[in-house]
Amino acid sequence: MTEFSNPSPELLVPRLRTGSSEAFHLFVGELARQSVRPPGEDRTIGAMCLAALHELELGGPLCHAVEDLLAVRANETPSNQVGDFRAVTQTELLSDHPDFPTDDAYEWPEAWREPLQALGERYTAAHFDSTCEELRSERLVYNLLFRKVQTDVPTRALPVEYVMQTRAERFPNGVRWLNMGCGIMEGQSYLLNKSALGVPPVEVVGSANDTAATHKFNALLERASLIHESVGIDIADAYDPNTYTWSRGSLRPSELKNQSFIQRFDALAPARLTGTKPQVHPDFFRGDILSDDDMAEFTTAYGRKKFQVVSALTMLHQVNGDDTNKERQKLLERGRELLDDNGILIVSDFAWLTPRARAPQRLNFYRHWHEPFRYRSFIWDASEPEAGLQEILRSKNSRCDTFQIIDKVFDELAT
Ligand SMILES: C[S@@+](CC[C@H](N)C(=O)[O-])C[C@H]1O[C@@H](n2cnc3c(N)ncnc32)[C@H](O)[C@@H]1O
Repeated sequence: MTEFSNPSPELLVPRLRTGSSEAFHLFVGELARQSVRPPGEDRTIGAMCLAALHELELGGPLCHAVEDLLAVRANETPSNQVGDFRAVTQTELLSDHPDFPTDDAYEWPEAWREPLQALGERYTAAHFDSTCEELRSERLVYNLLFRKVQTDVPTRALPVEYVMQTRAERFPNGVRWLNMGCGIMEGQSYLLNKSALGVPPVEVVGSANDTAATHKFNALLERASLIHESVGIDIADAYDPNTYTWSRGSLRPSELKNQSFIQRFDALAPARLTGTKPQVHPDFFRGDILSDDDMAEFTTAYGRKKFQVVSALTMLHQVNGDDTNKERQKLLERGRELLDDNGILIVSDFAWLTPRARAPQRLNFYRHWHEPFRYRSFIWDASEPEAGLQEILRSKNSRCDTFQIIDKVFDELAT
């Protein structure tokens, strides 16, 4: 057994110098879980989790950084907190370790020891040396405490394309699409430029005839786009180079190593960040959807009831999910207010819907969202509000390459 062998969280926690709090215990448990079953089966993530467990066990400066992360992000689930922590470490490595992640050494915990120790030391030093204002402007501290993970995956926009194409008769004048929590607008840019870029084939499983369903689904995605205008809104500035760096740092190492994935990612990012230029650009508005002032400004600029499609893709789980569920409901309500009378709201997230028989209807969010087919898409139809949210698709993972179709409209469509 090496010193990095995988300890169970139960064995590890009592030995931690600082790991007395419940939140710390849960965080360590999630690190241990992801060290064995990393998202996307990405070995590099598993190695990072194992090395972080070891550093926390030693009680070094990394504990200080993690405890502060947990204190500030107390409303997040342990899997989100581990996601934040991974994005922080990866963003730092991408800036000062040019061999990350291409060097296969990062698939082993030993390679993470030095960067994790350095991260803990830099964070602690920043605390001793800085005023509060300086702390916020220090990238490491700001990312660790405040930034929300921004994995921005182009193919997550495919459920939006699916909805527009399966309900095309409602949109005779095309679609004005608002994308809430758009990140750096990878998905939007992707759909706007799909005829030039091409849509990679996706697979349909779990149907009566998967080959026929796969063919029909891909044919729908390849149809001419109905979008004539598209706006994204996000709390983080999509045009800030730090947001771009952070979005890259939020990806999986296996994606960062994949040349064609990264080329596409860069081609779809806003031109002013990368110098590359997709043919059609979405519009961007910086704002917090939960802020009344920001949304008043947004409606002055773009109007109310003016969008045929409003989406919230992989963003609702980042909104405070306490027992009252108020903020998530408010966010969905904001989306509904902006829809035209025949419009459709689309929500994709790691969530399941309480059956209507057990009212009130509610989206429930998975704690362990890496399990298969927990990334799901739901619609709310403004012309049929009493129907509530309806599930339409399940994706094998949040990279949207394999779907199960729940939507009845799909079966009724001619091939
Ligand atoms: C995980 S990213 C998803 C990006 C993209 N929609 C996708 O599915 O790939 C979530 C995004 O939601 C944004 N976000 C979270 N809360 C928000 C809020 N209250 N208002 C606006 N944007 C928000 C974050 O800044 C982040 O860019």
